[in-house]
Amino acid sequence: MEQYAIRGGNPLVGEVEIGGAKNAALAILAAAIMTDETVLIENLPDVRDTNVMMQAMESIGVVINRLDRHTVKINAAQIHDLVIEDDYIKKIRASYYLLGALLGKYSKAEVALPGGCNIGLRPIDQHIKGFRALGANVRIEHGLIITEAVRLKGSHIYMDVVTVGATMNVMMAAVMAEGKTVIENAAKEPHVVDLANFLNSMGANIKGAGTDVIRIKGVSKLHGTEYGIIPDQIEAGTFMFAAAVTKGDVTVKNVIPKHLESISAKLLEIGCEIEESDDAVRVVAAKPLGHTHVKTLPYPGFPTDMQPQITVALGLSTGTSIVTESIFENRFKYVDELTCMGANIKVEGNTAIIDGVPRYTGANITAPDLRAGAALVIAALAADGISTVDDIKYIERGYEDFHIKLQGLGAQIELVTTERDLQKFKLKVG
Ligand code: EPZ
Repeated sequence: MEQYAIRGGNPLVGEVEIGGAKNAALAILAAAIMTDETVLIENLPDVRDTNVMMQAMESIGVVINRLDRHTVKINAAQIHDLVIEDDYIKKIRASYYLLGALLGKYSKAEVALPGGCNIGLRPIDQHIKGFRALGANVRIEHGLIITEAVRLKGSHIYMDVVTVGATMNVMMAAVMAEGKTVIENAAKEPHVVDLANFLNSMGANIKGAGTDVIRIKGVSKLHGTEYGIIPDQIEAGTFMFAAAVTKGDVTVKNVIPKHLESISAKLLEIGCEIEESDDAVRVVAAKPLGHTHVKTLPYPGFPTDMQPQITVALGLSTGTSIVTESIFENRFKYVDELTCMGANIKVEGNTAIIDGVPRYTGANITAPDLRAGAALVIAALAADGISTVDDIKYIERGYEDFHIKLQGLGAQIELVTTERDLQKFKLKVG
């Protein structure tokens, strides 16, 4: 048993340092294998997903040296296998980025069909469409996606939906293809831009990342680089909402405030004060939270990865709010857990109708996925009494030292592994 024990009621106050972006890191790690020269990556978050990704890379012969907790040296000169085993893919969906990276470098790759957080159907048709447009043969056999090409050729690709994964995967496959590639209706997330910047620092020629149209001129070779990953927009947003929900005063440090605009805008709308500086954002929640409506959208819209966190906040606001999830169709599973804590939320299809309640009450709850798990922790921090949160392995996929960072802000939260630990925690917090 590994769970968080939480006693709610303390406003979170202070400063918290935000780490590197998990979803940028996963793609950048994969892209690092596209050269035989050594690549140095800094500001790498030490979370379960990035660690599994590196294990998957090591399994095919990539040499990874961890210089410190957040810095790695990667050398992929000795790759001996172009097949990524099922085990890694089951653990993290993003290991499919190795498909684009290996295809781009060796014109061949075999990767098991992806798993990942259970937040709805997660098709990969746009990845396949992109690889085929570049001239690769793609087939699915025995649960493996097998893709190969004699020589990848640049192409004009129109994405039917805005997809972060397919935009990044196809970008990797295209950087060393012959000629020009244009990706239209591309995702514009900060991590798409970060991957493009990383590949450009390796000698790629990518323009337009961060807009709808990405243009890539194929180069014959990529070289080594040294690169620092951008701060994690969602980790920052999670702490900002933790401040709001606990009526606290929290400054998230080492962030890019521009990436947090949609999050800051919603916090302002519900009555928080926001102060921005060059690389920090302060959230002060002095007044009762007001209600609002929100719809998740691709960047620069409000992120689906912040949907559970804002729902937790709106559950404590005055009035009725509507949250519409437009990216994934099954991302409200945590609402049942929140209901156990006293929330008044009705889910109809992809919409949650939230009638604010004055307070949540502590309960024994289970994290259904990564972001919902973090959101439930925040709810527990605001609740009266003691909660336990199970299945925190999901939270550990994407948050480094989550409970330790929360403790630094005054939260009463501990990671407990036995019933005895839990009893000790209960005695300690009274
Ligand atoms: C990435 O997932 C993130 N994961 C997710 O973060 C995030 O929720 C999501 O982007 C949206 O921002 C990683 O970066 C590892 P998509 P991804 O392709 O790439 C549809 C977290 O909590 N689609 O942008 O899988 C798809 O069904 C996680 O950190 C197709 O139809 O998301 C969805 O409706 C969870 N065909 C929409 O596009 C495809 O081929 C967006 O998905 C691909 C996607």
